[in-house]
Amino acid sequence: MTMVKCIGILTSGGDAPGMNAAIRAVTRTALFRGIAVKGIYRGYKGLITNEIEDFNNQSVSNIIQRGGTILKTARSEEFRTPEGRKTAYDRLMEHGIDALVTIGGDGTLTGARIFAQEYNYPIVGLPGTIDNDLYGTDTTIGFDTALNTIMECVDKIRDTATSHDRLFFIEVMGREAGFLALNGAIASGAEAAIVPEISMEKDQLAEMIETGFRKSKSSSIVLVTEGDITGGAMGIAERMKIEYPQFDVRVSILGHLQRGGSPTAQDRILATRMGVAAIDAIQDDQRNVMIGVQNDNIVYVPFSKAIKNIKKINPDLINTLETVSH
Ligand code: F6P
Repeated sequence: MTMVKCIGILTSGGDAPGMNAAIRAVTRTALFRGIAVKGIYRGYKGLITNEIEDFNNQSVSNIIQRGGTILKTARSEEFRTPEGRKTAYDRLMEHGIDALVTIGGDGTLTGARIFAQEYNYPIVGLPGTIDNDLYGTDTTIGFDTALNTIMECVDKIRDTATSHDRLFFIEVMGREAGFLALNGAIASGAEAAIVPEISMEKDQLAEMIETGFRKSKSSSIVLVTEGDITGGAMGIAERMKIEYPQFDVRVSILGHLQRGGSPTAQDRILATRMGVAAIDAIQDDQRNVMIGVQNDNIVYVPFSKAIKNIKKINPDLINTLETVSH
């Protein structure tokens, strides 16, 4: 067991509900085990510009229920450069920080991996993103809350869809991953989901219309993942206007409201377990790993795997949606 005396903690990339619960768990676990904690504000950017503060138990009181991140977050261009990373390393040394816990998505882990290799420095990552697109973990901190938000929004939009006999395309986030759209569609009883993973293989819109998905219904809701691969909800609606003008189509883009709000119980518990596990990992000499959860067990996933491998959507969920939406 390495003697770690002080850890730094930061959040980076897009905020996600449950990040605060993770910050709290990491801080409380470290302090309980006699390790000092420094909070680093605004991600790697704040590390470079020296926005670093001593954390105690009170620093993380009353935050488990809050969305966003008390540490604030940013996307740092400077950390992408060798000079920026050198300054970051100097700061860690100045503050006596022996190891780092970083909470964020793909970009955060990529930065951590490069830095850890360059300076042979111990970093443990926690998967914090609503997208759920990190390989090696069944779910990420923030995904469940975002899904619940999507479900509530779709429930509301359905009132208008039914009253007006309309077809709604609702755009959700997810970057290049369809987890929010597919799971959100099942949870909200939507008729279909158009996701990037399948858009590459087949024309989901044409297939949907051809199989007569709307025959027995006067209104329909389809969830669409944002971005160029699917064309987004606007892109799909444009196609509908030209190819299937008989439909009364409307678009709703949920946007950043999907990232906000108080985390669900599931996200708070996940974040808390992962936060404790991050300190276990550091004390256990694990370096450059992401904490994941697989079949309800905590696992260590090397950064290289979590970043490089693509997490696949579960074909069983696609079949489930198709089966129940007929
Ligand atoms: O990664 C989280 C996420 O919300 C994605 O779903 C989305 O594409 C992106 O961040 C939006 O980023 P920004 O808040 O910088 O517009």
